[in-house]
Amino acid sequence: MLEELERYEGTDEQIARIHKIVSDKRDMKGAVLPILIELQSVFSGFSADMLKLVSDDLKLPVSHIAGTASYYSFFSTKCRGKYIIRMCKSAPCHMKNAAETLKAFQNVLGITVGETTADGRFTLETTGCLGLCTQAPAVMINNQVYTSVKPEDVETILENYKQVQ
Ligand code: FES
Repeated sequence: MLEELERYEGTDEQIARIHKIVSDKRDMKGAVLPILIELQSVFSGFSADMLKLVSDDLKLPVSHIAGTASYYSFFSTKCRGKYIIRMCKSAPCHMKNAAETLKAFQNVLGITVGETTADGRFTLETTGCLGLCTQAPAVMINNQVYTSVKPEDVETILENYKQVQ
């Protein structure tokens, strides 16, 4: 499974964060699972290098860490961008031109659904109903919701995220 993961070492700051997550949780019973859960929430997924780092810190075989990561379906074994864009693709949003808005995201970012921009900033995904059908089409970027999003709004929305370090 490890061979299937992307290689990504991470920045010095990210590596320090991983060491800190491991050291905070290493004495917990069954520490691997809570460590992976926190890694997933911080980095939105794992790379092979991240799992190797955890394995070194815990002095456990990397196959054990990777095995736990692949056993639970809620873990993403793909590293995703800092900002995950989730465009609703359910029927009410579809009726309100969601496909055109999605196309605008693809054009501005230069990626298709399931891909991450080369700078690691954005991942584009589709999702089922976000519960905002009366204000369709709806998009979530991490925890921020955007409603009634038209194709011409996309560039402005993304601009806010491009400026954040
Ligand atoms: S169908 Fe898109 S938010 Fe409900």
